[in-house]
Amino acid sequence: MAMLSNEAAIYSLLLVVGTFAFLWFTANTWASRRFSPTDYFALTGVRAPQALLDFDVDKANARPYRPFRWEYHQTMSLKSMDPDRWVELESTYRERIHQRMELYAIHNKKIIDWLPGSEDACRELMEMVIQFVCARYPRQFQMDAASGLFRNDILNIVSDTTNIHPLLFLLQHIPEDFLLTQEDKTSGLYVFRAGVSCSSIGWNVSTKIGLPLADIHGDVPDYKEKMEFSMNRFFTNMKIDKPIQRGSWGIEVGRPLFLQEEDPDYRVHVPDLKLRDIHLRVDWQTLRRLPKSRAICFNFKALFTPIEQFRTEPFIPRLLLKILRDGKPSFMEYKSFSHVEGIVVPALQEWVKEQEDKGWVPADWKERTLDEDPFFPGWESKL
Ligand code: HEM
Repeated sequence: MAMLSNEAAIYSLLLVVGTFAFLWFTANTWASRRFSPTDYFALTGVRAPQALLDFDVDKANARPYRPFRWEYHQTMSLKSMDPDRWVELESTYRERIHQRMELYAIHNKKIIDWLPGSEDACRELMEMVIQFVCARYPRQFQMDAASGLFRNDILNIVSDTTNIHPLLFLLQHIPEDFLLTQEDKTSGLYVFRAGVSCSSIGWNVSTKIGLPLADIHGDVPDYKEKMEFSMNRFFTNMKIDKPIQRGSWGIEVGRPLFLQEEDPDYRVHVPDLKLRDIHLRVDWQTLRRLPKSRAICFNFKALFTPIEQFRTEPFIPRLLLKILRDGKPSFMEYKSFSHVEGIVVPALQEWVKEQEDKGWVPADWKERTLDEDPFFPGWESKL
């Protein structure tokens, strides 16, 4: 009997301790899920964006980013981020959100994944993005911090931010990719630890997660020799109040967002390819350090422009032609031009001649990065 009552006492004790532990754990988990009232503009020192009170997402054009540089060296080529444009919405919003949700339904961890230890950084990122879009697009988005409910008036939906993974929330509302890197305490290197990404050609979240920057960029020509050292130093020293932006570009057939090597149309020669099928794809990227977790967030969106548009953009055909003809062969191969070269080069040659005849570009102009980089003279009139 005494034995039994001892066992019962130990059992009761375990039950009480277990219940307390469970309640404590739940309370803490719950607490971390509440929407924090932090003012991230004040905390980061990056000012709030100007509110766009007349914004109409269906009519908004992306700016014509043309990040072509000459001499074309493999460098970081960073500029300060414009605080108004950390996240930018434009007329493809609805279509993109739909496409991204579909991609996630099909490819799952190739689109979204996170490693243990990234939870706080993901949450902080979501809160910062919410605060930004509510300040920039107040007619489209509203957040009620007390209830944790986020209202999206473009899609006409309300999301409860307290019971959704932050990366899923971002997938549902923001058509940009977000990749979070965190410092590995042992090596000091920055490692990709959580992200949502649909704009990936030849790679995906599952092929890069858990890797340090050097391994992520393993296929990028000259990365090891020309960039690795400065990238690692830049990430280690990056300041919270100094976000940056840069552009990456490629020439694509159609408008592929997510394309993998095993896809049948992955960079193959298309018979009967027309000029109108070819697009410039620009991934406009920003990089910033989050103030609480100190993770570094890399976010970007893919923008497509028919290459035929270059005809009306002074200097752009000439600059691109120079890069295609005289760029470093390893880089041209990485950018995979060969399947479109036969069509793009003659068209550019024709437009170069036309722009010289019209007096838009002096015939003796020596190719160089434009003063308007990443744009071109007169780009504002194209909006
Ligand atoms: C200052 C920061 C960064 C710079 C300067 C940079 C630079 C580059 C460059 C030059 C390329 C080749 C494509 C091109 O842009 O022409 C590239 C590709 C890529 N970058 Fe970065 N990168 C940066 C940060 C990151 C971060 C933080 C991640 C992920 C966490 C990342 C992921 C990738 C991936 C996945 C590719 C494609 C690689 C492939 O083709 O396998 N980058 N990056």
